[in-house]
Amino acid sequence: MTLIRHLINMADAVFYFTKMGSTGKVAKYIAERIGAEAVDLSKEPNADPSKYDRVILGSGVYGGSPSKTIREFAEKHRDSMPKISLYLVCAFKDKKAEDQLEKISNELGVADSIYLNKPRKMFGVEGSKLELYIESLKKS
Ligand SMILES: Cc1cc2nc3c(=O)[nH]c(=O)nc-3n(C[C@H](O)[C@H](O)[C@H](O)COP(=O)(O)O)c2cc1C
Repeated sequence: MTLIRHLINMADAVFYFTKMGSTGKVAKYIAERIGAEAVDLSKEPNADPSKYDRVILGSGVYGGSPSKTIREFAEKHRDSMPKISLYLVCAFKDKKAEDQLEKISNELGVADSIYLNKPRKMFGVEGSKLELYIESLKKS
């Protein structure tokens, strides 16, 4: 599917904000795997998502919320953003993380979303949540 997307010139981008680095590492990893561009919103706050066919948003969770940068980006581009998927990197897991994910996904208006807890341990690990997410992105 990645090849087909490439052939018909479909462009994806991962727009991310990272405070301590984890979300950034995941963004670059996903981007490399699906052939997307990784855009660090702290360096390119005026980046334009409307020129892409699909946007992946990535944020750490801080005090139960996404970063202000991601929230403002999602609000600013709510009406012009192409199809979106969201991943959150967080310390919580299980029910607390699921509740947090639901709240943030609703706030940002994203239906397709996942949370990742300790994603660095998932890189290249077959069947891990991150690898399954990447597979789903490649298929859609
Ligand atoms: C100030 C602060 C607040 C945090 N609040 C939460 C939280 O409410 N829920 C959670 O699951 N993780 C929380 N965390 C953990 C971060 O989400 C986690 O470390 C994540 O990897 C941060 O992403 P980053 O490395 O890209 O900045 C918090 C971390 C910090 C430093």
